Amino acid sequence: MKLKIFKPLLLLWTIHVVYACQDTLNNQADYRHEHEISIIPQVANIDMGEGSFKIDKNTTILVLNDTTTAAYFLKDHIDRVSNFTIPIIRISNEGFDKKQNFIFIDNTRKFIYDEGYELKIDSNAIYLSGMNNRAVLHGVQSMRQLFIDEFTMGNKKDVWFLPQLKITDFPMFPHRGLLLDCSRHFFTKDVIIKYIEVLSFYKMNVLHWHLTEDQGWRLEIDAYPKLTEVGAWRTGDNETDRYGGFYTKEDVRELVAFANSRGVTIIPEIELPGHSQAAIAAYPQLSCTGEQVSVATDWGVFKEIYCAGNDSVFIFLETVLDEVMALFPSKYIHIGGDEVPKFRWEHCLKCQKRMKDHGLKDEQALQSYFIARIEQYLNANSRQLIGWDEILEGGLSNNATVQSWRGMDGGMAAASAEHHAIMSPTSHAYFDYSLQSIDLEKVYEFDPIPNGLDKDKYKFIIGGECNMWTEHVSTENDLDNKVFPRLLAMSEVLWSYPKDRDFEAFYQRVQQHYPFLAAFGIAYGAAAIPISTRVEIKNKTAFMIADTRDQSLTIKYRWLSNADTTFETYQFPLQITKYDTLIFQAFKHKKEFGKPVVKAVSHHKAIGEVIKYKSIYNEWYKGGGRTGLVDGNMGSHDFKDGCWQGFWGSDFEATIDLGEVTEITHLETHFFQYNNSWIFMPTEIVFEGSLEGDDFYEIGKMDSKTDPKARGKHIENYIHKVNKIKMRYIKLKAKNIGKVPGWHEAAGSDAWLFIDEIIVK
Ligand code: ACM
Ligand code: ZN
Repeated sequence: MKLKIFKPLLLLWTIHVVYACQDTLNNQADYRHEHEISIIPQVANIDMGEGSFKIDKNTTILVLNDTTTAAYFLKDHIDRVSNFTIPIIRISNEGFDKKQNFIFIDNTRKFIYDEGYELKIDSNAIYLSGMNNRAVLHGVQSMRQLFIDEFTMGNKKDVWFLPQLKITDFPMFPHRGLLLDCSRHFFTKDVIIKYIEVLSFYKMNVLHWHLTEDQGWRLEIDAYPKLTEVGAWRTGDNETDRYGGFYTKEDVRELVAFANSRGVTIIPEIELPGHSQAAIAAYPQLSCTGEQVSVATDWGVFKEIYCAGNDSVFIFLETVLDEVMALFPSKYIHIGGDEVPKFRWEHCLKCQKRMKDHGLKDEQALQSYFIARIEQYLNANSRQLIGWDEILEGGLSNNATVQSWRGMDGGMAAASAEHHAIMSPTSHAYFDYSLQSIDLEKVYEFDPIPNGLDKDKYKFIIGGECNMWTEHVSTENDLDNKVFPRLLAMSEVLWSYPKDRDFEAFYQRVQQHYPFLAAFGIAYGAAAIPISTRVEIKNKTAFMIADTRDQSLTIKYRWLSNADTTFETYQFPLQITKYDTLIFQAFKHKKEFGKPVVKAVSHHKAIGEVIKYKSIYNEWYKGGGRTGLVDGNMGSHDFKDGCWQGFWGSDFEATIDLGEVTEITHLETHFFQYNNSWIFMPTEIVFEGSLEGDDFYEIGKMDSKTDPKARGKHIENYIHKVNKIKMRYIKLKAKNIGKVPGWHEAAGSDAWLFIDEIIVK
């Protein structure tokens, strides 16, 4: 942000603005009002003045035409918090009566940026201008953020003061969104209204509404009533419960109109060809087999998808899309396209015939055919298609916009091919992930422009979204807790320019925003876990470092094995001396604050030694990097905790050099399984040893004991004891599970291997 002081400000060089306000009702009581300007997202330019503008019963809003909905929004807002109401007066373009004390809103001004606005607060007038309603609405939201008291005081006032200033502001990206998954769990219309209200407050302009899934179809469709009669309901946690809900057309019309009045576009997502089990439960003839299935009750990826060989499926989808387009005026319709297991298509005569008839070489190409056919339909209806980055596989259709979620590569490929891309990588934008992997600062580090993208292709990156998937979020409270305050960081990352970003300053502004969030009824969560931990290795010894940003906290710890001991105060650094679990707890004013942080650790002979990989870990799951497997810091049941190293579709092979010939009695490693996310145990694990590093011989071989079909998260410890052998090099080989009969075949994809720590004792 450029901060220019246009009148000499003798006292203050900071963004602290002190402005004197006269309480007109109470003439005696001059008071100084200290107020920190904390607009989020950061504005592009602000020049501070010295005085203030007074809003009172004599203030008028002037507009050029009375379709300026931003003016009504501002009026409603002021009326609600004041002992007076403020009139809106329509004036002509030729000029207007220069009477004092007006707020002039001009939504017809030419501006370079579509959503850019200028807000000028003088002592006797406010001028707010932009090219359209959405632009001036952003200006109104900036104004609202200038007077925090209205949100927090509750009592109505006779006079409001706004600081004199001039803001010129515009966004970096035109597409700034939140994905809200209302299919895995259903959220009421009121929750959606609250979210639209807050999105608008933070100048986010897209609500990406995920409405159909394996676990629930949430949109009323007249032509296919069973979609909601059957598809909106699933068996609940108890066999006798029914869980679900859906939005009627009336609900949708109301929400679309409300969103429009707040400058937010709702983009509906109707998933195809996968994630469609709820629709198939309602109409089994949509699948390849025609068999009756139920609405899914578990999370993950399911093989029941729409048949691509059956024309009646396309008639169904086009009819659904007709009704969707009639409800949602958005330029874009999101059709999903992610996570499509090809198993059914591989075994379906109609799908195979379609491939033959159209010369499609494989099922990926059939998926492209499917998406292209839907895209043509949308384009013929003047709409544009958005799909997840899987739609790149098998060839991208003509005008498709790609939403990149599996990292940045999809967006990079799309933009390089001059297709529009929306960035929401799991690394920074997945708000269902825990704070341990994505906290406020991590979101703030997000740069939607992929590294290495040619400059002339930047313009194809139209923006980003934060994705709020709700498999594990069933209440409004939990939803708020996950989305806030992280959404504020996303809003700033998508609106402001990188040169204007500074996390420390942002963090301070966020503190000023908690009262706003509370006033919106948001049960916001923490910005970060109170204690962050990491391991550092010095001279082949591992030390656990525990840290906190909050200086009012004391960090204490204890070892799990010492069950009787009480917490002792953590002192930097703490040496890892054994195979045990450390429990850290923050204390505030001598009381426990937040949840404990639990870290399994190990001391062993390979700590800090050099590892050579045959093929390197995936960039999204580096798990501590080059020394991550020999740092004594072991992974938890959260596979995104930063300890686990992920290998996609390849076997694992790595060799540790212990530096000298060493006596060994115990070899151990850990793998992870979570088949919902395609993470499997290896089929076979082999430890080998060598004295010189050339000839290796087998020390021990093990098989997995975890059933690949077992649901849930599993860590398996592979331990091999030996009778005092001497080795310098230890090699670990683990075979990727590849295709697990009956289950993983269905996913039709490669598998992940997740490993943490190779322990040598
Ligand atoms: C996604 O997270 N499957 C788009
Ligand atoms: Zn089929």
